[in-house]
Amino acid sequence: MNNLLDVKNLYKYFSIRNGFKNEILRAVHNVSFQINNDQPSILAIAGESGSGKSTVAKLILGLEKISSGSIHFKGRDINQIPKKEKRNWLLREIQPVFQDPFSSFSPLKKIESYLLETYRNFNIADADSYDIYINDVLSKVGLTFNEVKSRYPNELSGGQAQRIAVARALISKPSLIIADEPVSMLDASLRISIVNMFIKLKQENKISIIYITHDLTTAYYSADNIIIMKKGEIVETGSVDNVLRDPQHEYTQNLIASIPKISDITL
Ligand SMILES: Nc1ncnc2c1ncn2[C@@H]1O[C@H](COP(=O)(O)OP(=O)(O)OP(=O)(O)O)[C@@H](O)[C@H]1O
Ligand SMILES: [Mg+2]
Repeated sequence: MNNLLDVKNLYKYFSIRNGFKNEILRAVHNVSFQINNDQPSILAIAGESGSGKSTVAKLILGLEKISSGSIHFKGRDINQIPKKEKRNWLLREIQPVFQDPFSSFSPLKKIESYLLETYRNFNIADADSYDIYINDVLSKVGLTFNEVKSRYPNELSGGQAQRIAVARALISKPSLIIADEPVSMLDASLRISIVNMFIKLKQENKISIIYITHDLTTAYYSADNIIIMKKGEIVETGSVDNVLRDPQHEYTQNLIASIPKISDITL
């Protein structure tokens, strides 16, 4: 089995209340894609607001229930994995990074206790001492434990906070990180430094990344492949080069046309 992730005919419907009646909202419609296990890769998911990107992420992370279809991770159907194994294996293997890093920090807790909590939760067995282990994950995101441990969240910049959120995600040694708009709250200049960090994690730590974004520039810069979603469906997919340089679908062409200067980007 050489797929890290195999999403097959995935559907998600939400039942929403409209006045006196319930309506069915189609959030994800027949979505299929794979991430190969042979070598780590970055898969971007782009598309207009409400197109179902975050719902796909939540279904993979087990935060929403699948309506129909399947998700296999390393050959195993994630819905068939017993609870205990889910906790001990799957939740370590697939880690989320969200848009607002501050939302997962408690304002009253130092960064040290935030990281220690995760370290304890995952019960890292083969680890060196806590300090060495955490310093090692922080070094992967360009920080040191000394510079951040006694800070409170409000003493961090947005870029530092997102790096710490990624470091937290690395504690359990995942093979897949799902980052849902991780740079959308950051300045353009910081965005590239965060996606550079993703590229480095892919190359040096063999972690694959699903990078959900509205920012086609950083998607083009960092991703190997891209999925373009519209109204819950995949309208176009392929290598970023093919899709963004030679979009076949009018919707993709419009997304690209709406960002200035993507056609000027050279590698
Ligand atoms: N818990 C929910 N209950 C009802 N509807 C939902 C729920 N979560 C998402 N939806 C709906 O599903 C559709 C897809 O939402 P989703 O959040 O996946 O879009 P998105 O592509 O991530 O958008 P954005 O770019 O704005 O983050 C939207 O119409 C949304 O309103
Ligand atoms: Mg979203």
